[in-house]
Amino acid sequence: MKRVFLIGYMGTGKTTLGKIISKQMNLTFIDLDIYIENRYHKTISKIFEEVGEEGFRKIERTSLEEVSEFENIIIATGGGTPCFFDNMEFMNNKGTTIYLMTNNNVLFERLRIASQNRPIIKGKTDDELREFIKINVDKRHPFYSKSNLCFDANKLDNRSQINEAGKKLVELITKENR
Ligand code: S3P
Repeated sequence: MKRVFLIGYMGTGKTTLGKIISKQMNLTFIDLDIYIENRYHKTISKIFEEVGEEGFRKIERTSLEEVSEFENIIIATGGGTPCFFDNMEFMNNKGTTIYLMTNNNVLFERLRIASQNRPIIKGKTDDELREFIKINVDKRHPFYSKSNLCFDANKLDNRSQINEAGKKLVELITKENR
């Protein structure tokens, strides 16, 4: 039985890589944010608007427990998931956790074009976003680094880089589960 949690900041490629490796490994893919949106019939932004971050984190934890019952699955967590409650310990008990590591400049370039659906960075200027990423990544790093494995996710600029990274990630998981 395989259960893999992809961990990392927003924009590290959890969803992009999760989709490809689940196909290659013949496992089901679940994106925790999408699971929440379907389960609660609301976008993540709407949930933040209605119940604030605190309410969202409770929903996120409940949803994490639900998806962690499934087997033979790759789960892309949200960027904040590991940093609340004992979520990191919970995931480490349920399966293999992999920290997708990406440097802050790369994150900035990816997130400035994809901030609209992410309530915690929406509306920030470039300078504010750069500063926010720096502070927030430092704060979250201690949680992310409790993951079982680390993976360099800096090179995901085009299809061939994504495929290459996917191949390496599958190798890493296969080796770990041998
Ligand atoms: C969040 C990351 C998002 C989503 C929510 C909060 C965070 O997920 O869960 O907007 O606190 O970093 P992605 O990492 O998939 O963007």
